[in-house]
Amino acid sequence: MRTRRLTAIDPAAAEAAIDVCAAILGRGGLVAFPTETVYGLGANARSPKAVQAIFAAKGRPSDNPLIVHAPDAVAAFSLAVGVGEQAHTLAEAFWPGPLSLVLPKGPDVPDEVSAGLDTVALRVPNHPVALALLKRFDGPVAAPSANLSGRPSPTSAEHVWDDLAGRIDAILDGGVTGVGVESTVVDLSGPVPCVLRLGGLPLESLEGLLGSIDVAVSVREKASDEPVRSPGLKYRHYAPQSPVCIITGDRDDVVRALAQLRRGTAKEGRRAAWLISEESARTLGCDTADPNIYVLGSVSDLESVAHRLYAGLRAMDETSPAVILAESFAEAGLGRTVADRLLRAAEGNVVRARDVIEKGASVNSLLERFSSG
Ligand code: TXA
Ligand code: MG
Repeated sequence: MRTRRLTAIDPAAAEAAIDVCAAILGRGGLVAFPTETVYGLGANARSPKAVQAIFAAKGRPSDNPLIVHAPDAVAAFSLAVGVGEQAHTLAEAFWPGPLSLVLPKGPDVPDEVSAGLDTVALRVPNHPVALALLKRFDGPVAAPSANLSGRPSPTSAEHVWDDLAGRIDAILDGGVTGVGVESTVVDLSGPVPCVLRLGGLPLESLEGLLGSIDVAVSVREKASDEPVRSPGLKYRHYAPQSPVCIITGDRDDVVRALAQLRRGTAKEGRRAAWLISEESARTLGCDTADPNIYVLGSVSDLESVAHRLYAGLRAMDETSPAVILAESFAEAGLGRTVADRLLRAAEGNVVRARDVIEKGASVNSLLERFSSG
């Protein structure tokens, strides 16, 4: 299949490009489009066949349900039944925006979308191109992130091209996405609202509005001496090809540990890639042109860190390093989402900076520990 690339960046070209993409969706085709979080891979949500094509293109397990996108809350809620007060409150506060609501599914939603569940996830994205496409198509659009299953979500049309060229009908280029991590998924189908996935809407914003809320996010950090890479753990997501290791601890320790590991790699002839903060890059005297170093952002600007996280994972992975060493960030606001995604990318490989320093660890000794699992 030839994948068309259309641009919506130039306003003069956007309308025609959106028309073409809406027509492709109407024919049951697949269109990758920008949202404020990450690029989505859209299909007509009313067509079981079109929805099945999403799973095939991504290599996605068929038991993982899709989020349905609509241009406004009225259109979104028409796909659910028993939409309660909390759903309306959240929609009013945060739609359009990086929030997906799981509600009891209405009769119009095919089982292919919900992967057999009796609920459906709904979202109104906050991106002018996404909204224009949804209005033009005039129907619900099922859209997972537009990456190959298991790869980091795409935050640019280039990322989508790298993963899905030849497998989908079109990519609508709207530039780099703003938020950079996927929507927060909140299940409202039970007695107490439950966060199923941390995302672009911080937990704090939800707590402020809902009061009591459960968080069911299933990533645990492995104890640092446990063997790592145990197979079958279900949390290999967002993961590059190279192993990822997170260095945690207080900032001074982390910078010392990073400096020690960096000196070691020069001697060992092992090439590591680095995903680090602006502050660490400065303290370590990193050359910003070094292709093995990706600066995520300032430790005090977690939004910019989230914005650059997936691009950083992809860029560092492209250089096929022995390991990608990632600095940990504060777990507040979007920092919680960053920590969640890093932990999944690292499959739980976390090393405490203090341990690195006290044991005089090197990249080689860390890698040995990973592979001994
Ligand atoms: O920001 C986003 O949410 C992006 C953009 C494109 O909108 N989409 C996205 O979709 O990240 P995807 O398919 O990569 O992730 C959807 C998540 C999965 O974790 C899935 O299991 C969950 O939402 N989900 C979807 N429907 C669900 C349902 N009915 N019940 C529980 N979880 C559901
Ligand atoms: Mg995804």
